[in-house]
Amino acid sequence: MLPELESERLLLRPRSLGDLDAIAEMNADPEVMKHIAAIGDPAMSREAVTARSFSHVDRGLGYWSVFAKAEPEIFLGYVGLIPDGDAADDVQLSYRFTVSSWGQGYAREAAARLLRHGFGTLALPSIAVTTHPLNPSSLRLAERLGFRPAPLDPAMLIGHPAVIATRFRLTGEMWRGLNPPAA
Ligand SMILES: CC(C)(COP(=O)(O)OP(=O)(O)OC[C@H]1O[C@@H](n2cnc3c(N)ncnc32)[C@H](O)[C@@H]1OP(=O)(O)O)[C@@H](O)C(=O)NCCC(=O)NCCS
Repeated sequence: MLPELESERLLLRPRSLGDLDAIAEMNADPEVMKHIAAIGDPAMSREAVTARSFSHVDRGLGYWSVFAKAEPEIFLGYVGLIPDGDAADDVQLSYRFTVSSWGQGYAREAAARLLRHGFGTLALPSIAVTTHPLNPSSLRLAERLGFRPAPLDPAMLIGHPAVIATRFRLTGEMWRGLNPPAA
């Protein structure tokens, strides 16, 4: 079981089957999916999302649905810590929010809380972000969270049409430097 997490304005609840309709609706929005995949891509279908939603919870990895404390019934989006390739320690941060929730700092607040869980509780050595090179809000979010550019992997493609993904990395050491324990 993944833990429920909380930040100043947000509740991060482990993804449940009840969230899948809202996720499918978000994945059907061309604006959300512009730099990720074509609308109708089978990999983004409700069935495919369901199949991969809970596969790694035994390792403490998976997805958290994000809600505002002030309106806890409205799904805002999700953040995730998910495997990044085959090596056991390789994990990536994922984030996707509904258009109506953009521009309020929710993605940054939720991702920052999840990084604290990843580097603190899970003691992950490093976390990657994989994003489209022309996805300005995602690039900005990664940079503001402290991620630094990482080498490209020509086999790691994203988008429609597919291009080589931009990669970022944040190590636990870098994260602790940016987030010293409160005195
Ligand atoms: C990537 C994505 C999650 C970013 O969402 P977002 O709402 O733009 O990101 P943030 O939460 O960082 O908020 C951005 C802006 O909110 C504004 N904001 C408003 N109120 C705020 C507050 N109280 N606190 C912080 N920021 C606030 C800030 O100006 C901030 O912009 P800045 O970082 O330039 O200063 C979103 O665009 C998205 O879901 N895109 C589609 C999916 C996607 O592409 N995911 C990445 C794929 S790999």
